Amino acid sequence: MERIHRKDYRASEFLVDTIDLVFELDPTETIVRAKMQLHRNPEVPAGTGPLLLHGDGLELRALRLDGAALDGSRFEADSQSLRIHDVPDRFELATEVVIHPAENTKLMGLYTSSGTFCTQCEAEGFRRITYYLDRPDVMARFTTRIEAERARYPVLLSNGNRVAEGELSDGRHWVQWEDPFPKPSYLFALVAGNLVCHEGTFTTASGREVALEIWVEPANADKCAHALASLQAAMRWDEERYGLEYDLDIYMIVAVDDFNMGAMENKGLNVFNSKFVLAKPSTATDDDYEGIEGVVAHEYFHNWTGNRVTCRDWFQLTLKEGLTVFRDQEFSADMTSAAVQRIKDVTRLRTAQFAEDAGPLAHPIRPESYIEMNNFYTATVYEKGAEVVRLYQTLLGREGFRKGLRHYLERHDGCAVTCDDFRQGMADANDVDLDQLERWYFQAGTPVVRTSGAWDASAGSYAMTLSQSQRVFPDEPRPRPLPIPIRVGLVGADGNDIAGTVRTLELSEDEHTFTFENVRERPVPSIARGFSAPIKLEMERSREDLAFLMANDSDPFNRWEAGQRFATDVLLGLVGRVLEGQALEMDPALVQAFRRILSDGSLDGSIKALTLSLPSEELLSQELSQVDPDAVHRAREFVVRELGAALRDDWMSTYAQHRQGTDAVDKAQIDRRRLKNRALRYLVALEEQGTIALAVEQFRTAAGMTDYEAAFSMLVDLDSSEADRAIAEFYDRWRGEPLVLDKWFRMQAMSSSPAAFDRVVALSNHPDFNLANPNRARSLLFAFAAGNPFAFHRADGEAYRFVADRVVELDAINPQVASRIVSSFNQWRRFEPGRAALMKAQLERIAGQSGISKDVLEIVERAVER
Ligand code: BES
Ligand code: ZN
Repeated sequence: MERIHRKDYRASEFLVDTIDLVFELDPTETIVRAKMQLHRNPEVPAGTGPLLLHGDGLELRALRLDGAALDGSRFEADSQSLRIHDVPDRFELATEVVIHPAENTKLMGLYTSSGTFCTQCEAEGFRRITYYLDRPDVMARFTTRIEAERARYPVLLSNGNRVAEGELSDGRHWVQWEDPFPKPSYLFALVAGNLVCHEGTFTTASGREVALEIWVEPANADKCAHALASLQAAMRWDEERYGLEYDLDIYMIVAVDDFNMGAMENKGLNVFNSKFVLAKPSTATDDDYEGIEGVVAHEYFHNWTGNRVTCRDWFQLTLKEGLTVFRDQEFSADMTSAAVQRIKDVTRLRTAQFAEDAGPLAHPIRPESYIEMNNFYTATVYEKGAEVVRLYQTLLGREGFRKGLRHYLERHDGCAVTCDDFRQGMADANDVDLDQLERWYFQAGTPVVRTSGAWDASAGSYAMTLSQSQRVFPDEPRPRPLPIPIRVGLVGADGNDIAGTVRTLELSEDEHTFTFENVRERPVPSIARGFSAPIKLEMERSREDLAFLMANDSDPFNRWEAGQRFATDVLLGLVGRVLEGQALEMDPALVQAFRRILSDGSLDGSIKALTLSLPSEELLSQELSQVDPDAVHRAREFVVRELGAALRDDWMSTYAQHRQGTDAVDKAQIDRRRLKNRALRYLVALEEQGTIALAVEQFRTAAGMTDYEAAFSMLVDLDSSEADRAIAEFYDRWRGEPLVLDKWFRMQAMSSSPAAFDRVVALSNHPDFNLANPNRARSLLFAFAAGNPFAFHRADGEAYRFVADRVVELDAINPQVASRIVSSFNQWRRFEPGRAALMKAQLERIAGQSGISKDVLEIVERAVER
């Protein structure tokens, strides 16, 4: 397996001015003709070498250079590349290849999904369509002519503007598209099918009218309004926040059922996983609505941060993804609630990215090498990358960040650049030195910041000492201190911040002591407010102080955080008692703190629901040096039941009070549903007939999917006939709606019922299960392996064997999705020796199979070695 290194980057010897594509579409055999104008890159001196084009699974039918067919001695072609010798400095190259879209199960390049043709080219899928310089620093102007049977494919779409169309013989027709903006091949897109369009418009700040089109299968025409509204909101927000306007006269989004990722930002023609487009209250939950809003915005924001200014090479991926995730997080914070959004984003970072940083696949946000690029669309590049972008805003302020972003985009418009160019743009626009920030781009691992404080009563001052440390990797230079902004405040006994103590401390050395004056009482420090840097904070804090911050901190993130720390402290203590075989006892102070949150009139329902949730089993496991998943599960279930019982009346009255409402998806109703369903969860955990009946009643009568899904997920956790009845009813009602049926698979896979594993095995043989559909495969397998630690880590290892078998099967169909699922084994070293050995054995078994993809091999070999 070939490893590609960042340090080996060389500019392309050839550049492409224009590429004119012609597609003769047919599911079994599509002909692709490409005519390109190429020239030698003047920046690469003394180039005399051959032209080497990328290919993947292509069959060459014709080849002409400047109009003349080439003699066999002038070129070498195989399915992986095309090499042409003795080419002039400037020339035209024409190729014709054959590809097979209906057989393309990897869903990279041109493929069919429920009869619709679509493409996915990022990162290296364009080479599966035609021979090309398939790298992001080669940007060309594209035209696309699509020819297809009119009856089956009335709609023919590609990037840019529709410039001509016409009829052909035999019931075929054609459409010609032209994209005026030069772009890298990864942003190319084509769609052809029988689709309908949900239309809207947007008038830009400077008064241009843009046509907005959401294309879906006819049966889904009634589920597009939210995606359209989200797009309009994102377009307005980017104008208001950053002064960035859209640049074409048309913006299209197409929803397809088979898609490896969430969505793709192709110029003027986004292709989306239908999960992130289709919604109406009866089929989509509140979280689905928020997911759609965020993903639609994310892909739209790429038009500037990704498309107009793109990446020089794939090592720079965080340049566009970290930045665009940061932008969509800020957008969602403005659309929903800043505090709730921050809590969600941080929870995601901790769950996925902290685990990655602590495991065998730890890598910096700008990786140094890879074998398969698809494996580097990671939580580190995305989520930690977004946190690193946020550091600029924390250091420069919103206005400084805006100035920096605009300067970076103006300076590099139309270019393919690096993370260093971004940092330089930010520094130049603000006239500051940001050199030390580069360390965040090449040092992996989650930094730990230790804090301690001392109050000097006689001097009336408080000294806060912060020190940082980082994970040391073998064969890598000793990590150097990072610049870490720490937002703090000192809270007085009355619960308010002591005047003059709300500051952003900049820790840039190994250790530093910051002094606060005029502190006349012993304060409780609130540190890293708003999660001001992607670090782990370590400090000695009493449960009293945590309960105090949970009730009083003026920073909503740290209020929530104090509650999570408090609960974690209680839970870890109980895990220890389980392991020692001691009786479990609940800390009444946690019950008291929960009661206080429930009755706090200043908090909205979403924040309450989050504050009243316990940290997940995954997050608790991260705190343990050796994980016994049974002990973690038992301790957590114990606390859930204790909180359920001790606060039974409070949950009951909360549920009753918030039970009635509408199925509207607006803030008031979302807050209401979140709090109500949190209460119901505690009640159902008591497994009393009366409380179970409440969930059954909600399941039977819910108008919207949020309440329906919530009740269903509670019922499938039960070890009783209510579970089986709900499973059967759900299926009968929703078997015709693929996205809802995905929920049916997912909820069963994530259930804490003792029947969960047997159900998952049975579901893998269900007629509606389909390994080739990524959403369906993930709904069962990823949900189980990554979202149900208790069942996945059953002590006999049978679940490991089952998932490993499915990974091997899936790898032959779709390696990209298989490699995501196999990553669930990465943490094997962190488990108790019995499970660790069983997990490792499955990794070795997978690695030993013949014909395993490099996608999966890169992951499993790393996991076994490191
Ligand atoms: N450019 C990516 C999609 C992509 C990723 C294509 C990897 C091919 C390989 C897109 O902008 C993206 O990041 N999508 C995310 C969702 C987003 C909201 C973070 C995704 O698909 O998960
Ligand atoms: Zn993206």
